[in-house]
This record gives sequence, C-alpha cells and structure tokens, in this order.
Amino acid sequence: MPIDTFLKSVEATKFATAIRDSIWMFPIIESIHVICFTIVVGTIAVVDLRLLGLASTQRSFRRISSDVMKWTWGAFILAVATGLMMFSNNARVYYHNPFFRTKMILLVLAGVNVAVFELTAGRTSSSWDKAPSAPRIGKVVGVLSLAIWISVIFMGRLIGFTTHPGTVAPPTPGVNYEDFLGGPSSGGSNGNTSGGGTTTTPTPTPPNQ
Ligand code: HEM
Repeated sequence: MPIDTFLKSVEATKFATAIRDSIWMFPIIESIHVICFTIVVGTIAVVDLRLLGLASTQRSFRRISSDVMKWTWGAFILAVATGLMMFSNNARVYYHNPFFRTKMILLVLAGVNVAVFELTAGRTSSSWDKAPSAPRIGKVVGVLSLAIWISVIFMGRLIGFTTHPGTVAPPTPGVNYEDFLGGPSSGGSNGNTSGGGTTTTPTPTPPNQ
C-alpha cells in the first residue's frame, strides 16, 4: 500500500476527522503537547546540567536522575500520544514536511544518545555520583542531549509555520468563525449575509499558527 494511501486512511479515521472538524480539539491537544515537551526537555536539561557540572553539583547525580526521570518518561509518553493525534489530522502534510521528518530523526538520535550514556558513563555512575561533574563521555552526552532537544523544539515550531493553508483541510461548511471569534454576527450560516454588509467566512488560519 503506498504510504500516501495509508496516511489518507489515517486522516479519514473518526478521531482524526473529529479533530479536523472541531475548533477546540487541536488547540487543546497542542497545548497538552507543549506542556508535555516542556516537562520532557526541562527535566532532561536538569540532568544534563548536572552531568556538565553546571548545576546541582552538591547533589548526588543518581538521586537527581531518579527524582526527575519518572516525570521525563511520563511526559514523553503523553507528548508522543498528543503528537500522534495532531499528526493524524493532517498526516500527509506532516509526513512530507521536512521539519517534521527532521524532528523525528532528532527524537531517534536523542534515544541513541541515552543508550550511549547507559552503556558508558551510566554504568560507572556509582564511582562519580558525588563528583561535581561526569567523566568526559558523560559530558559529551550531556552537550549532545541539550543540542538535540533544543533542535527538536525548533523543528516542532517550524512545522507549524510550514504547513501551508492550501494543504490544510477546508473549513467545515456552516461554521462561521466570525460568530466563534465574537466578530459581527453573520446571522446566517456560512457567512455571506449579515446586517447589511456582506461578510464572508474568513479562511481559517491553519489550526497550528
Ligand atoms: C518529546 C518529544 C517532542 C517534543 C520536544 C516536541 C516538540 C514540539 C514543538 C516545540 C512543537 C511546536 C508547538 C507549537 O508550535 O506550539 C511541536 C509540534 C508538533 N509535534 Fe511535537 N514534540 C515531540 C514529540 C512529537 C511526536 C512523537 C510527534 C508525532 C509523532 C509530534 C508531532 C508534532 C506535530 C504534528 C506538531 C505540529 C503541530 C502544528 O501543526 O503546529 N511531536 N512539537
């Protein structure tokens, strides 16, 4: 099955259609996505700065790591879930978006970087747990982790700015954004009549800008 056919079937699912047809669902899902990745990147930065000896140097590395990593993993799982929901509503556009693809590659690299840490400095952490910073490989992993996650955020932001209105699903007939946005009432469906002046239903900005 060609990938676009598969992605089209993803877009046609009841859930993806509901997101596309709802005014609220996408902003709510994206807000949860933003909260989740803020926790993911924020908690990872706490651990990375400890590895680099730039913060919490008086505290045990393993204590900090075990305190925050459960939040990291919980938020990561929710970030993936909300990310897939957003993806589903416009799958073909996101799949072909270079920033989305770069972001997915960066997420894989972030995983590889964690594996490298676990197989190297992580294995000997009991020996440097109270030291102000990690051994060289631990610091390299810390720098790479910060660079990768900051790049993920830039790519995530750029996705929203590069999914062009022309490629987003047309506005749902009968929904008058003027009514929703508190503008001059259309009084009729689909806009075109209202209190003397003609108002047309504005083309909604893509649900992500
Ligand atoms: C924890 C890892 C992740 C981080 C740090 C992250 C970060 C971001 C950021 C910064 C944005 C922009 C938010 C905005 O413009 O308000 C974003 C949007 C987005 N993310 Fe993620 N994301 C993560 C995981 C995922 C995953 C796993 C997927 C999908 C499989 C995904 C799909 C999306 C999509 C589709 C958007 C674009 C929404 C739009 O059109 O604005 N994200 N993400």
